[in-house]
Amino acid sequence: MTAPTRPLPTPALHLDAVTCRFGTETMRFDLSVAPGEWLAIIGPSGAGKSTLLDLVAGFLSPDEGRILIDGIDRTGDAPAQRPLSLVFQDNNLFPHLDVFRNVALGITARRRLSDGERARVEAALDAVGLPGFGHRRPGTLSGGERQRVALARAVLRERPLLLLDEPFAALGPALRADMLELLTRLKAARSGGAPHGDDRSAKRSAPPMTIVLVTHNPEDARRHADRVAFLDAGRIAVTGPAAMLDAPEDAALRSYLGR
Ligand SMILES: Nc1ncnc2c1ncn2[C@@H]1O[C@H](COP(=O)(O)OP(=O)(O)O)[C@@H](O)[C@H]1O
Ligand SMILES: [Mg+2]
Repeated sequence: MTAPTRPLPTPALHLDAVTCRFGTETMRFDLSVAPGEWLAIIGPSGAGKSTLLDLVAGFLSPDEGRILIDGIDRTGDAPAQRPLSLVFQDNNLFPHLDVFRNVALGITARRRLSDGERARVEAALDAVGLPGFGHRRPGTLSGGERQRVALARAVLRERPLLLLDEPFAALGPALRADMLELLTRLKAARSGGAPHGDDRSAKRSAPPMTIVLVTHNPEDARRHADRVAFLDAGRIAVTGPAAMLDAPEDAALRSYLGR
């Protein structure tokens, strides 16, 4: 049963005593996410889930602590310098730009794209099930379609870390399930079909995709994530495999889940 000993991989994301003070409130996060891992963050409204993602993305600066991405200290880096993509619940797209340009912004701000870049944008739209939607404006799309466009742009960037803050919360259950399936497929495609685990020596064109998904839906976390972090009052109260949601030991987590 015991796995052969090998050095632990450098975490894709590491928060080392990251502390943020708002008035009298203090949030403090310690967290490690392995390369290729899918971490779900759950917890009550106001617990600090968005704050945590904003700290990682660089929209907020911590008062103390360090944020490492793939082993490199990024605490002082501007958001654009960090090797990650972020998808919000809404407002991910520029309404005055068509879908093609919105997705293309994932790789370049130039208006003229090379043939190769055009092909990559088209492929990303195909991958999210929106072939031929390039000329449409975001305002003519449904909520689910807009989030697909946002996902296409995020995935096109090929950044190793994908942060999602309740990205599908505004969608109905069926559409949300579709989007999570889509995300699962995109992640598997990026990881060469092998989820984190066995064959670490396998050569990959891009680094495996590591996902941090904030969701208010514990069932989504249980189904899709490898691991779950439960945030409560500005700290990570519990982390564990997604299956822990079936029989949580922590009293606050039990109460959050309504057990
Ligand atoms: N910029 C800010 N200024 C002051 N307080 C903030 C700020 N951002 C977040 N907070 C505090 O952090 C709490 C948690 O916010 P947030 O991270 O958005 O929670 P969640 O995403 O879990 O619902 C808020 O209720 C608020 O008290
Ligand atoms: Mg939030």
